[in-house]
Amino acid sequence: MRDVAIVGVGLMKWGELWEKSIRDLCVEAALSCFEDAGNDKIDSIVVGTMASGLLTGQEHMANMVPDYLGKKHVPAMRVESACCSGSQAVRTAFMEVASGMSDCVLALGVEKMTDVSGNDATYALATASDQEFEAFHGVTFPGLYAMMARKHMEQYGTTREQLAEVSSKNHRNGSLNPHAQYPFPMTREQVMNSTLVADPLRLMDCSPITDGAAAVLLVPATDAKKYKKHGMVVISGVGHATDTIALCQRKDMLKMEAVTLAAKAALKMAGKTIKDVNFAEVHDCFTIAEIMIMEALGIVKPGQGGPATLKGLTALEGKFPVNPSGGLKSKGHPVGATGVAQICEAVYQLRGEAGKRQVKNAKVGLTQNMGGTGGTSVVHILEAK
Ligand code: COA
Repeated sequence: MRDVAIVGVGLMKWGELWEKSIRDLCVEAALSCFEDAGNDKIDSIVVGTMASGLLTGQEHMANMVPDYLGKKHVPAMRVESACCSGSQAVRTAFMEVASGMSDCVLALGVEKMTDVSGNDATYALATASDQEFEAFHGVTFPGLYAMMARKHMEQYGTTREQLAEVSSKNHRNGSLNPHAQYPFPMTREQVMNSTLVADPLRLMDCSPITDGAAAVLLVPATDAKKYKKHGMVVISGVGHATDTIALCQRKDMLKMEAVTLAAKAALKMAGKTIKDVNFAEVHDCFTIAEIMIMEALGIVKPGQGGPATLKGLTALEGKFPVNPSGGLKSKGHPVGATGVAQICEAVYQLRGEAGKRQVKNAKVGLTQNMGGTGGTSVVHILEAK
């Protein structure tokens, strides 16, 4: 296998983007990525999107993207793994470059979610749950994560205040991110007083509905020296694992085994342990998710995610910053784009280009993206070289 580097990243400000269609989002992210790399010659494209058909009516995204990007005839494919689709696109692009099949691959993630009503967006998202055991009975993702939160509170004593600090900390970071959908600080009290969605989770415990896209350009590390605009960043580890799709079929609903296994594989490939990692971008689709992911990654012991967050371990200036970008909570969660945007943030951090939200001495970063209640997870390890 060849070593693989990231030589370009492209993002735009996310939010409720009425004036842009799904194709505009793809083109904007890709052009911004080409500009960042100083190169627009590509051999191949991988598109990650979860529900473009249900949310916009547009399927066949692997044809639409090269066409509207002015790249017709370039081979392109679409990958789908619910909210993990973006990092699956990066993983697929990685395999294409590492294998020697292609020399310059664009991985692009996109979702346009606000053109449909809240009900229709919730329906589209719920298609990622188990249709027979979960969706058929009316449970949606806020409800499923609420069950995990309630159990975590009962088993480990996790408090409402600890959950609120996840959101508050991510909003502090997001207020420093020009791409964020909700770039403003939020106190723990504001989180705890926001509208109840699914007890104990409130509106400000939930990632929002978002329009957005993100893109990264992958080349063999030996070619990366030609791209002199920025410091070099390599993907040194990739891990992927699955679990049961239905939450009720897990032996322990507080253990995200797919996250643990994906992280183990990625860290082993990179020759690292979690202690070597300087920061992480993780899938905080709900505040409880960030706490459980910290535990699944081994950043803290089971049950310690809440207290550690409240003590500041994961703050920007803490010992192990988590979600310096603002995470899904503040930056937004256009589901198919999220995994790619996590990689973009890791690259900004490792190049030292993250501005006011720069993590000090960032040399090794971890990204963790997942689908459903953790039924699929992909972890990447990135390093500054
Ligand atoms: N942070 C800050 N403000 C937010 C917010 C957030 N996460 N989410 C919504 N808001 C604001 C909106 O801007 C809006 O403000 P306005 O009235 O001034 O315009 C207000 O809060 C209400 O938002 P709205 O979008 O109308 O709420 P809703 O009731 O339709 O939807 C949720 C709220 C939580 C149900 C919805 O965002 C949701 O389903 N989130 C989870 C998505 C999900 O499951 N993703 C997949 C995870 S695996």
